[in-house]
Amino acid sequence: MKRLMLAVLLSAALAGCSDRGGTPAVAVAPADRDAGKALAERDCRGCHGLDGRGAAPGIPHLAAQSERYLDASIEAYLEGRRTHAALRDMIGGMSEADLRNVVAYYAGLPPVDAAAGAATARFLPYEHGESLAAGCAGCHGVDGNASKPGTPTLAGQQPHYLVVAVHEYLNGVRTTDPMHALLRRLSKLDVESIALYYASQVPAARDAPAFGDAAAGEPLTAVCGGCHGSHGVSTDAATPNLAGQDAHYLVSAIKAYRKTRRHAGMEAYVAGLSQQDIENIAAFYAAQKSRPAEKGRTLVQDLIEKCDRCHGPGVENAAVAVPKIRGQDKDYLIMALRAYRDDRRESSTMHVMSLPYSDSIIEGVAAYYAAEPAR
Ligand code: HEC
Ligand code: HEC
Ligand code: HEC
Ligand code: HEC
Repeated sequence: MKRLMLAVLLSAALAGCSDRGGTPAVAVAPADRDAGKALAERDCRGCHGLDGRGAAPGIPHLAAQSERYLDASIEAYLEGRRTHAALRDMIGGMSEADLRNVVAYYAGLPPVDAAAGAATARFLPYEHGESLAAGCAGCHGVDGNASKPGTPTLAGQQPHYLVVAVHEYLNGVRTTDPMHALLRRLSKLDVESIALYYASQVPAARDAPAFGDAAAGEPLTAVCGGCHGSHGVSTDAATPNLAGQDAHYLVSAIKAYRKTRRHAGMEAYVAGLSQQDIENIAAFYAAQKSRPAEKGRTLVQDLIEKCDRCHGPGVENAAVAVPKIRGQDKDYLIMALRAYRDDRRESSTMHVMSLPYSDSIIEGVAAYYAAEPAR
């Protein structure tokens, strides 16, 4: 990590003190904003406007963006670390001086009108999930604490796992009729928001089943803990908590991996279990205490505080060129964050920041920044 930072700093320093041809810039002429404007008019206007506002959703605003960051991003396109074929062809044909001028032009513009950003609706994934979960409460309980035997507890469950589970009902890998009608009306963001809401609820204890012997089940779960966590409390967003789950549901879920449900890892581990083993394991896990997998109510706000350590006010002098993101186009912010997450855009710092986040959380963060006044 340290070496990586050094490399970033070094290349930034080198980019700053040499021409692209490799000759040291002895006396760099000051940027000519009028010449930059003429170039913007010719080449960039169609997409970035003369006022630096992205002409359509998904195109970034360049107005008032930090000059260092604009330089760094152009360098990234030229070197292929970021891809935009048309843009690279265009700026690839421009001289170092042209690029400096056009960058100075955009960086020197006033920020885009705050009214545009203010019209962006905030998106609050937790609250959105909470309102949709009302439709599930009849069976799963208001906060995901179901009480009916056979109906699983969703409270505290790992969010990515819940999303996958819903998809398995929708694509028929798992079947349960009463739920289908409800689930089909949900978008991807809806399902992720519901998952975040449930993941953040405190799981209550379930009734002990009339079958099974928890003490006999415990040693059988030694092999399960590697994935499902100690005592069935999972720490991986894609692996379900088993702790505190309804024992009837656990029995049927384990058996389902021998019939309909497919998961290479799981199938191998449950294939050799007898009916008695399964009941004992279920009794053991049902008696364990679980906990919420997420802190959804404050997640977006907590995240923004972290982002602002680099993107907040006063970061213009940071060692690395950090873009301004307040008032930026929302769709562009979403695209950029997904690109970091999905490894389509390189940046060690940003990648680490955005890696674990679902689209609904990205939507919440992007909507927040887009709605903030640009400066
Ligand atoms: C055909 C439309 C189009 C034209 C013309 C265009 N751009 Fe862009 N530009 C884009 C899009 C789309 C992106 C975002 C690409 C991405 O996701 O990396 C972008 C990104 C950028 C970025 C990175 C901004 C950021 O916040 O990271 C810079 C800098 C930039 N363009 C400068 C220019 C300049 C200078 C010109 C004119 C010489 C120009 N662009 C012409 C569409 C265009
Ligand atoms: C009519 C009762 C009912 C309603 C309403 C209902 N569910 Fe369910 N749900 C069940 C039952 C029963 C199961 C267990 C089915 C099985 O054995 O696969 C289940 C299972 C699930 C699971 C799998 C849990 C796991 O641990 O794998 C998820 C996720 C889920 N429901 C989400 C939802 C969501 C989201 C809603 C609301 C949009 C909803 N359910 C509404 C009865 C219901
Ligand atoms: C290699 C990792 C791994 C091991 C070991 C493992 N599991 Fe799993 N298990 C998973 C994953 C991942 C899922 C979710 C799969 C899916 O989406 O269907 C899962 C799902 C389950 C479910 C379904 C939960 C629900 O809410 O529907 C049960 C029950 C379960 N495992 C029990 C066990 C038991 C019992 C053992 C040990 C005998 C075990 N697992 C061992 C990874 C593992
Ligand atoms: C440790 C410092 C740091 C933190 C923390 C950080 N970022 Fe960044 N961010 C950067 C740097 C540096 C870049 C420029 C990287 C590049 O050139 O791709 C960047 C780029 C971005 C971009 C691309 C902007 C554009 O114009 O293309 C977005 C969007 C962004 N960050 C959002 C966020 C969000 C949201 C968070 C919090 C979840 C966050 N960042 C946390 C340093 C950070």
